[in-house]
Amino acid sequence: MAKKLHIKTYGCQMNVYDSERMADVLAPLGYELSDRPDDADMVILNTCHIREKAAEKVYSDLGRIRRFKTQKEKSGEKMILAVAGCVAQAEGEEVFARAPYVDMVFGPQTYHRLPEMIAKATRSSGDVLEIDFPVDEKFDSLPVSNSKGLRSAFLTIQEGCDKFCTFCVVPYTRGAEFSRPAQDVLTEAKRLVDDGVYEITLLGQNVNCYHGAGLNGSDWGLGRLIQELAEIDGLSRIRYTTSYPADVDDELIAAHRDIPALMPFLHLPVQAGSDRILQAMNRRHTSSGYQALIDKLRQVRPDLAFSSDFIVGFPGETEDDFKQTLQLVQDVQFAQAYSFKYSPRPGTPAADYDNQIDEDIKSERLVRLQELLSAQQRTFNESLVGSTVPVLLDRHGREQGQLVGRSPYMQAVHIQDSETLFGSIVDVHIQAGYAYSLQGELAVNTMNAERVNA
Ligand code: SAH
Ligand code: F3S
Repeated sequence: MAKKLHIKTYGCQMNVYDSERMADVLAPLGYELSDRPDDADMVILNTCHIREKAAEKVYSDLGRIRRFKTQKEKSGEKMILAVAGCVAQAEGEEVFARAPYVDMVFGPQTYHRLPEMIAKATRSSGDVLEIDFPVDEKFDSLPVSNSKGLRSAFLTIQEGCDKFCTFCVVPYTRGAEFSRPAQDVLTEAKRLVDDGVYEITLLGQNVNCYHGAGLNGSDWGLGRLIQELAEIDGLSRIRYTTSYPADVDDELIAAHRDIPALMPFLHLPVQAGSDRILQAMNRRHTSSGYQALIDKLRQVRPDLAFSSDFIVGFPGETEDDFKQTLQLVQDVQFAQAYSFKYSPRPGTPAADYDNQIDEDIKSERLVRLQELLSAQQRTFNESLVGSTVPVLLDRHGREQGQLVGRSPYMQAVHIQDSETLFGSIVDVHIQAGYAYSLQGELAVNTMNAERVNA
């Protein structure tokens, strides 16, 4: 009988990718994915350590799942409870200390060893801890990905980070930078496209620092890799995330100019607008350098839409520093953005700085920044009204007959009464733009095509 596997994913898209691969690794052992944690034979929490809130959420969820586990044990059944991902990597043994009912703790680079870990956990009743960094071994031993009819898929091409921004745990939880060889990436991409995928998002903590072994003996950068991916027949859309501004090179800029499949949307985290703060963060760009880069990209691809990440209340941030962040946002005009209050993370340099900012000030700055960013997002969404954009319809909406897809600029687009088009890319005429989404109808040419097909 099939065993039930429940995976809960926290945090970034790399974790989403990792969770899918964990399911692939466990499928041959008879595990089938289930939405329910209560009667699962195995529960994996694939965790995030980036901010304190994300990490603490894991422990409250563990408390809840413990009750299900106890319940199962009462009726003579077992549940293997595992903590994976970056909390596991960062806290290791501490997870067992805080939550002794956890059976397994493993980091983001060891989940290919899950079958052995499960064997160990079932054989003995001892805890299983796997938190080293054999990243190349991981990719070599992962099974073929099963994209389950998805039209849009993630593909990890790079892991880890050597930048050591002073606020960030990633270099400690994900380890040193590693790029997968281009051949491996191309093979995985072709397999996804053969499985019906139209859109691939290339993932990496620092995806544009990609420097994998190319097909011609020399290392390839991200621009070169995208060029090669664009040759795959049937791959209509390519995206990549997350990028490090100082490492956007000319080849990547040229890719935005030359490759139509490379979508005109770029997530480029700036973090702050004050050069003093950027330096204290150990970011390798200045505010003007960042804006010059945006200009350069807009020159080659005028409709390129930008998104970003911001941190407010980094240690030592004055009102004047913060105003420079607001000014940068005014100058750039973002299509979308994420913003966070600075959260001191154990082991990172900035956590020990003695000029920490009051929580109230952080909150107040966050509100001001988010107001401005939301207004820009709405303006951007409204600017598309009246235009026609290709939309990849890959989700069902909440309302009957409603489909949801993504525009090239990553906006969610809702259309009504087009169920039969699920899973395709269609031209949509945009009728309304809202704070977080667009509403449209099938463009006339698509309707005609439909009629011809019918
Ligand atoms: N590699 C990416 C960022 C990865 S983390 C880059 O180059 O920027 C995702 C985002 O979380 C970061 O961009 C940052 O805005 C935010 N973040 C990271 N550490 C944080 C912390 N300690 N407090 C608040 N936000 C943080
Ligand atoms: Fe984190 Fe900076 Fe790397 S934000 S992921 S240390 S580029």
